Amino acid sequence: MISPDSGRDIVARHFQDIFRTAATVFSRAPGRVEVLGNHTDYNEGVVLSAAIDREVWIAAGKSSSSECRAASTQFPEPVTVKEILPQKGTNAWINYPVGVYKVLKDRGFPVQPFTMAIHSTVPLGAGVSSSAALEVGTALALCSLYDIKIDPTELAKICQKAENSFVGMNCGLLDQFSSMFGKAGRLLFIDFRSLDHEAIPMAGSDITLAITLSGVAHALVAGEYNSRRHECFEAAKFFAVKDSTVKTLRDISMQQLLAAKSELNPQFFKRAMHVVGEDERVFSGMQLLKKGSIKEFGQLLYQSHESSMHNFENSCKELDILVDIAKSIDGVYGSRLTGGGFGGATLTMMRSDARENFEKVIKREYRKQTGRDTTVHFAKIADGASIIA
Ligand code: GLA
Repeated sequence: MISPDSGRDIVARHFQDIFRTAATVFSRAPGRVEVLGNHTDYNEGVVLSAAIDREVWIAAGKSSSSECRAASTQFPEPVTVKEILPQKGTNAWINYPVGVYKVLKDRGFPVQPFTMAIHSTVPLGAGVSSSAALEVGTALALCSLYDIKIDPTELAKICQKAENSFVGMNCGLLDQFSSMFGKAGRLLFIDFRSLDHEAIPMAGSDITLAITLSGVAHALVAGEYNSRRHECFEAAKFFAVKDSTVKTLRDISMQQLLAAKSELNPQFFKRAMHVVGEDERVFSGMQLLKKGSIKEFGQLLYQSHESSMHNFENSCKELDILVDIAKSIDGVYGSRLTGGGFGGATLTMMRSDARENFEKVIKREYRKQTGRDTTVHFAKIADGASIIA
C-alpha cells in the first residue's frame, strides 16, 4: 500500500520527468465502495458508501500553450489534446480530466489549458470508481491552479456532468460525491434528493472491507445501466400519472408499491422493488450502525444482493458465487455486489481477524466453482479528496 507521501512523490517525479519543470499543485482523490443502496442515487434515494485508501494522485501546472497535456504512470505515452473533443482508443483515459476542464470552461470558470501527471492506486475495472477519483482529483487541482472557488457539492456535480456529457456514461452522483466527501473510518450516508450527508462511525474498529473481483466485465454495462435507469423512471411515471407530487421512486413507499403490483408492468415493478427496498435497507442500516449492531447490518448486505439477483437482475453467476462463498466463511458479516453490477466486484464486510482465511478460501473456492481466479483488495475507509501541500 502506498503512503500519502510516496503517492505525492511518485506523481511529482513523473511530472518533472515528462514536463521538465516542477508541478504547481497536487491533489489526491480516493476510489469508493458502495456499501448499501444500489441504483438509488439517480432515483433520488439514499446510499451508504465509503471512500477507500486507493487513490488517484495528481500533479498539475499551467500549460504554456493552448494544449492540455496529461501523463499517467499507468500508460507509457503522455497525451496531448488540442481540440477539446473526446478521445478514442488507448488515449480515452484523458477524457476524464479533459471532460472536467471542459465543463468548468463551459460554465464560465476561468480555467486555462493544463499539464498534468497522474498516478493511481485505484484498481481499474474493479467497480471502485477509478474514473470518479480522476475527475474529482482533476477538479480540485484545476480549481487550485486557477484560484477558482466552488462549493464541493457543486464540484462533485461538475465531475458527474463531465462523465455524463464528455465521457458518455450516464451515471448518478454517488461516485463523485463519495470521493469528495468520504471520512476516514466512517460510512457516508448520502441523501441524493437533498444532498445532505452524514458520516456514520463504524461500530467497533475491527471491521475490514474486502473488494473481491469477479473478473467478469460485461461489455454491455452502459447499455444495461441505461435501460435499468429508464425502467426506474417508467415505474415512477406510473405513480406520477395518479399523483403529480411523485417525482421519482424516492416518493414511493413499499406499501404503495405492493398495492400497485397487479397494475404495474411486472418488469418495472421488480426494478422498483429493488430501489424502494434498497432505500429502506439504507435507513435501517444507518440505525443498526448507530446501535453497533453490525451482524444485523451484514444481513442487509445479503438481502441487497438477493434483490439484485431477483429484482434488479444486475448480478451474474460469478458474483452470486462470490457472495455464497463469502457467506460460508467464519467472521464474515455480509457481502453483496457493489456498484453498477453485471460483473465487477463484491463488497464483503468481515471481522478483521477473518481476513487471511477469507482470502484463502474465496480464492480456492472461486477457482473450483468457476475456473476463474479472483483478486481480493482489502480496503481501509479513507478521507475524501483534498489538495496536498
Ligand atoms: C455506478 C454509477 C453510480 C450508481 C451505481 C449503482 O457506480 O456510477 O452512479 O448508480 O452504479 O448504485
